[in-house]
Amino acid sequence: MAFNALWLTDPKTDTDPANIVQVDETTLPHLPVTLRVLYSSLNYKDALAIRAKAPVIRQFPLIPGIDMIGEVIASESIQWPIGKLAIVTGWGIGEQYHGGLAEKFTAKAEWLTALPEGITPTDAALIGTAGLTAMLAVLQLEQQGITPEKGPIAVSGASGGVGSFSTWILAKLGYEVIAISGDRHAEEYLVQTLGASSILPRSELSESGRKLQPERWVGAIDCVGSHTLANLLAATQRNGCVVACGMAQGLELTTSVAPFILRSIRLVGVDSVYCEVAQRNAAWQRFATLLSHSSLPIPYQTIGLQQAIEFAGRLLEGDIRGRIVVQTTFN
Ligand SMILES: NC(=O)c1ccc[n+]([C@@H]2O[C@H](COP(=O)([O-])OP(=O)(O)OC[C@H]3O[C@@H](n4cnc5c(N)ncnc54)[C@H](OP(=O)(O)O)[C@@H]3O)[C@@H](O)[C@H]2O)c1
Repeated sequence: MAFNALWLTDPKTDTDPANIVQVDETTLPHLPVTLRVLYSSLNYKDALAIRAKAPVIRQFPLIPGIDMIGEVIASESIQWPIGKLAIVTGWGIGEQYHGGLAEKFTAKAEWLTALPEGITPTDAALIGTAGLTAMLAVLQLEQQGITPEKGPIAVSGASGGVGSFSTWILAKLGYEVIAISGDRHAEEYLVQTLGASSILPRSELSESGRKLQPERWVGAIDCVGSHTLANLLAATQRNGCVVACGMAQGLELTTSVAPFILRSIRLVGVDSVYCEVAQRNAAWQRFATLLSHSSLPIPYQTIGLQQAIEFAGRLLEGDIRGRIVVQTTFN
């Protein structure tokens, strides 16, 4: 049977490399679990892939979509009976394997996380890779002993996907959050909606600075890398911890050993793509706990699969506020 999918062909040889097409089911790899995709989400990485702005896709043709939530419709795994709802984020889907921007998806059993009770399929899509990454970063801070009473936490790229979730989760857990943002219009969103205590303009950290600076925060979640990460490290309190998640400013990191050997600062990385199953389960369970007494405040819009190509372009142009949930099933 054929199903609808966003289909990417090689932009080097094809002038029209992104289209919604009917794909035969035999195109999907034979993997133990087949899902009817309910929702995917449109992440920055997906937009880069769809608009061929960066080499995200390892082999063409490919269905993009780095995360999805779906219902099991065929299974060779006793762990994943028909009807069960599952989340898949990362594992190379939408990069190396056919991804979630389609009506059907096949998966290895170990890629699947059961949708925890208390999280709706739409919430799961809204959380997606961005929310999971933020929760993994918060769990890292906790594991490093950074508790709310130890001091404030800085979040860079605060109005973006990972930054928004990080700000909201930390504020919900009782941390004082310093939101670092270049968006002059985001103050109300960051403070009133997400719960940040204060805002720091992005420009205060985006240039090369002294390698050791007055101590301002005990921890940080960094979504932008480069000089911002170096400055976050330089201003972290003794025994503090910085979690590196992203590279919106740049991949490079120029710093010195001073914060590490003079203040015992720790720098920890987060990779949500290939992180262990136990970490994923812990992160999704924490979302279930948070959502048992609050609802997600992150703004989002739901689009159809047909609109994903247009929205990928708008996302790259910075024309979109909040997350984009893609309803994959055609009506
Ligand atoms: N480690 C992982 O597993 C993982 C998973 C998902 C994403 N990521 C990475 O995390 C980063 C954030 O992802 P996202 O989905 O949150 O992206 P996003 O929604 O595009 O947010 C990125 C934010 O960074 C800030 N920013 C953009 N350009 C900047 C620049 N030149 N200098 C400083 N700040 C800048 C902006 O926030 P303000 O306007 O508020 O400053 C922007 O909203 C990306 O680099 C992404 O690749 C990593």
